[in-house]
Amino acid sequence: KTYPLIRGLGYYVPERVLTNAELERMVETSDEWITSRTGIKERRVAAPGQATSDLSLEASKAALDAAGMSAGELTHLFLCTLTPDAYCPPAACILEEKLGIRGKAAMDLNAACSGFLFGMDMARAVICMTPEAKVLVCACDVLTSRTNWADRRTCVLFGDGAGAVVITSGDAEKRPGDAAIKDVRLLSDGSLGHLLTVKGGGSGSPMRLGDVVGDDFFVQMSGQEVFKHAVRNMVSVCEDVLAANGLTGADIDYFIPHQANWRIMEAVAKKLGLPLEKVCATVARYGNTSASSVAMGLAESFQTGKIKPGDKVLLSVFGGGFTWGAALLEF
Ligand code: ACO
Repeated sequence: KTYPLIRGLGYYVPERVLTNAELERMVETSDEWITSRTGIKERRVAAPGQATSDLSLEASKAALDAAGMSAGELTHLFLCTLTPDAYCPPAACILEEKLGIRGKAAMDLNAACSGFLFGMDMARAVICMTPEAKVLVCACDVLTSRTNWADRRTCVLFGDGAGAVVITSGDAEKRPGDAAIKDVRLLSDGSLGHLLTVKGGGSGSPMRLGDVVGDDFFVQMSGQEVFKHAVRNMVSVCEDVLAANGLTGADIDYFIPHQANWRIMEAVAKKLGLPLEKVCATVARYGNTSASSVAMGLAESFQTGKIKPGDKVLLSVFGGGFTWGAALLEF
């Protein structure tokens, strides 16, 4: 059996660094509170006018370079995001235009913070039907565009970033740096959607001409509930993927969970029996970058040598919806 291959990894973060010390001057908070509750020390913030397609462009170019491919060779572009440039046109089409290509199948895909693995699974499905397909899966969020900078419960958590991969069929020869996608499992539970929302401006809470932006325009979250469900569901889906592939935590060389909060990641890793040095932790530097966090973590961990050829890598996501999932890669 051949497995679809990830052939190039790229990521991008905006230049602007927002530290906890700066947040202390904006809201009633402290570096001590933020660090001890979340593990976050700083995050990146998109420049004014820098939208999801702009961050995605940089990550996508890096992924294509790493794959040794030109944008023109792509057949599909999936942009996983909950913060597209606009409702219409889709950010994926804007990205297609910025990459200087036309006539591809480009679409946005929203599975909140879990978007990257949902995009990867859609790419697997496309490749199953059309083995010659070459699919760009980019995950990007500019959640600071939906952050209420006066709400200390949420504004300390989020940052902006993008991660991208190129996925092809497994018929191609596997080169060093390629990763076989051995398994992906995805789940969702809409009955818990109210615990994490960005409602305002959607068709369920439309804005009228002259409306003033209200709280519901921004991220709203029941932090402790999200925390509890994130740990429980990520552990359970990771255990399923491990068991289905005849593995235990001890067989995993590197674990990349959604970078929402170090305490969540630590709790999940401990329950899976994974030592903390095997856990990707970009959250301290980038905060919670939503859909892009696992894609960014994957690209950065490979580029910095934390992932080596032959490694088995476990990915896990969790986000609004609720949505969650896990994937097993072999480099
Ligand atoms: N600075 C200082 N105090 C704060 C801050 C802050 N930034 N934010 C909240 N507080 C206060 C609260 O007002 C509360 O004060 P009170 O007791 O006087 O009312 C106190 O701190 C405790 O608040 P809690 O919400 O109970 O704090 P908790 O320990 O649960 O930590 C946190 C909050 C960090 C949000 C935590 O619940 C969490 O990480 N949850 C998971 C959230 C998450 O990961 N979401 C993303 C997953 S999905 C996605 O990525 C979109």
